[in-house]
Amino acid sequence: MKSKLGLEDVVITSSSICHLNEKSNTVEVRGYDLLDLAEHSSFEETCYLLWHARLPSSNELIEFSQTMSNQRQMPVGMLELMSRLPKTSGMDSLRTMVSALAAYDPEPDNTSIEAVQRRAIKITASMPTIAAAAYRSSQGQEVIPPDPNLTHAQNFLYMLFGKRISSSLSRAFEKSLILYSEHELNASTFSARVTASTLSDIYSSITSAIGTLKGPLHGGANEEAMNLLLAIQSIDNAEPHIRMLLEQKKRIMGFGHRIYKFGDPRAKLMKKISKQVGEETGQVKWHQICEKVEEFLASEKKLYPNLDFYSAPAYYCIGIPIDLYTPIFASSRVSGWSAHIIEQLQHNRIIRPRAEYVGLSGLKYVALSERQ
Ligand code: SDX
Repeated sequence: MKSKLGLEDVVITSSSICHLNEKSNTVEVRGYDLLDLAEHSSFEETCYLLWHARLPSSNELIEFSQTMSNQRQMPVGMLELMSRLPKTSGMDSLRTMVSALAAYDPEPDNTSIEAVQRRAIKITASMPTIAAAAYRSSQGQEVIPPDPNLTHAQNFLYMLFGKRISSSLSRAFEKSLILYSEHELNASTFSARVTASTLSDIYSSITSAIGTLKGPLHGGANEEAMNLLLAIQSIDNAEPHIRMLLEQKKRIMGFGHRIYKFGDPRAKLMKKISKQVGEETGQVKWHQICEKVEEFLASEKKLYPNLDFYSAPAYYCIGIPIDLYTPIFASSRVSGWSAHIIEQLQHNRIIRPRAEYVGLSGLKYVALSERQ
């Protein structure tokens, strides 16, 4: 048995949720181009598509959106629990609080498809509430309850800022949520499926996924990408700074991808969104620095941006704290994670790969008294 480092190109299951086609450089979710969904759909409709494998009728979408809106509130007592936590990162508090949600569920271990689907709505609807509340309470600010009259994306920003922002900026934000929603068997989705395959509960599967997404090689890259742009600071410093990092053998955050070797199709749309948001907020400098970095890495290293690289400046220009970028990624991807958990449970077999053994063998046990 030869090991495939990082399971590269290893196919571990069949799935009808997402198709990454590196030849046509497209991402399809339940047969629809993800870029089309980002341009024309809503986050709620994308959740419905992911969980029901078809687009809803207008009545179904109204009813589903209402159901999600009704589930945004955190259980009573969560806020008090959150306030007792020492100050920690956005992802650490999200991982802790999503795990705590299980304690408020009368039957968290119910892994019937219907029960898991109901919990998927609850967890997806309430993750923005948890992320925004944790951030505001960590800043000593009053926690803003969800507004049932706003869409999922508008409400996320409202609970964070305590006020509504322009419809064009919240629509740009919603497009990023759709782009982040689902992406086949990435590391965090894989970890959700591994946990679900043991028939553990959905809260454990989502907590596994949040912990996996946090890593800077995965979801944590969008925060690191913004820190990189802040370190570069000016357009003229883009090339020298990147050259220095490459000489230090450092990874450039927001670049490269396991599947896409000629550029992440999502990044192309996110780049347009980041430019629009930069122009609307009078902060085009960040987008211009990004373009310089992209140009340099494409020519020097044939390295191309992934979705995280351009979502970073867009979030920064909207005014979102950097510590919340990966929690936003998680709050969107939980829709994809949930679809994969449900699919895993529908045709389950515990996920248990092998290792290529390269250690010692046949050693005789030596009593402690005889060892030097
Ligand atoms: C996400 O799987 C998904 O779909 C993930 C995701 C999703 O939606 O779920 O798309 C979200 O996680 C996007 C990726 C975010 N991470 C980053 O931006 C961190 C920086 N990128 C890398 O560390 C890397 O590109 C990965 C982790 C994304 C991919 O890693 P691979 O496939 O294991 O690639 P590799 O490490 O084997 O690199 C191949 C070569 C290496 O050169 P050599 O050592 O062989 O000479 O490319 C180089 C790497 O050094 N390289 C980079 C680089 N990415 C790859 N060099 C500098 N900077 C980088 N970013």
